[in-house]
Amino acid sequence: MYLRLWLILAALPAAFAQAPKNPFAQDPNAPENGRTVFRIYCEPCHGIHGQGGRGPDLTRGNYSNGTRDEDLYRIVANGIPGTAMNGFGGELGDDNVWRVVSYLRTIATRNTEPMKGNAAAGEKLFRGKGGCANCHIVDGRGGRLGPELSKIGPQHTVAYLREAILEPNKDISSGYSTVTIVKRDGTKITGIERGLDNFSVQLMDSSDNYYSFLKRDLSSIQEESRSLMPNSYGRLFTPAELDDLLAYLVSLGARETKP
Ligand code: HEC
Ligand code: HEC
Repeated sequence: MYLRLWLILAALPAAFAQAPKNPFAQDPNAPENGRTVFRIYCEPCHGIHGQGGRGPDLTRGNYSNGTRDEDLYRIVANGIPGTAMNGFGGELGDDNVWRVVSYLRTIATRNTEPMKGNAAAGEKLFRGKGGCANCHIVDGRGGRLGPELSKIGPQHTVAYLREAILEPNKDISSGYSTVTIVKRDGTKITGIERGLDNFSVQLMDSSDNYYSFLKRDLSSIQEESRSLMPNSYGRLFTPAELDDLLAYLVSLGARETKP
């Protein structure tokens, strides 16, 4: 009895000295490896995509037993006493528990903030006042200048989506850099760069027109560090409208998490 208490106390300073951190936080393969483990050990109760079954839905990003990495580690390693959630630490080992935590993070990006808005109202803004559909395809309809957004919901956090709308120039999605060309006669065309080699350049403008030029026919090609997405949405939308729009984006592709 005394011996056991002593052991626990001796272990404490070490545990506090280094708050457990996910050693695989920067490892791009960790979520995929974690998924393999999840399929074998966790799927029977939490569903193939973590959407829930006998155990709770793990895609919400809000866990009743704690949401920090170290909480998830503790839950998966030690279990939740008195429930069907057993500890898997012994069976899986430290590293695989952390890999599963990495995987849980990727399926839980959907809803880390409670959504205040109304998705149906958000869709109206997307197709109407916002003009978003002029440049983005959702469910097969829309313009092709910007990236397709049909599955955007589970792919990014709400904070990322908010920033993409309010400050499009801050972080330009790869493959969507802006380029301005000037023809020998002085005409200028600005669009998204769709191809560039030693001899030619291809681009698409805001009206979905596709151009290809030989470099020798141009007087200049200028890469620009701004997005072609308008940066005026912070003024166009009220905060409530922005919430509606975000609720709509978060809902896109969310159906995919069901079996
Ligand atoms: C035998 C069924 C079962 C298996 C297998 C299982 N779980 Fe659970 N899990 C549960 C139940 C039931 C709960 C809810 C416990 C409670 O009432 O708090 C739970 C809770 C959790 C929670 C906390 C959810 C929250 O909202 O706080 C996490 C995270 C979790 N499980 C992850 C996993 C992982 C990862 C695995 C595989 C390594 C796994 N579980 C395997 C049944 C299971
Ligand atoms: C004139 C065309 C245009 C309009 C209008 C437009 N966008 Fe965009 N959007 C783009 C382009 C181009 C990009 C890629 C470059 C970038 O990251 O800014 C983009 C990027 C995005 C991204 C980031 C996607 C990712 O995978 O990272 C989101 C989200 C987005 N737009 C949402 C919206 C919403 C919501 C609206 C309406 C309120 C809107 N856009 C209106 C052109 C447009």
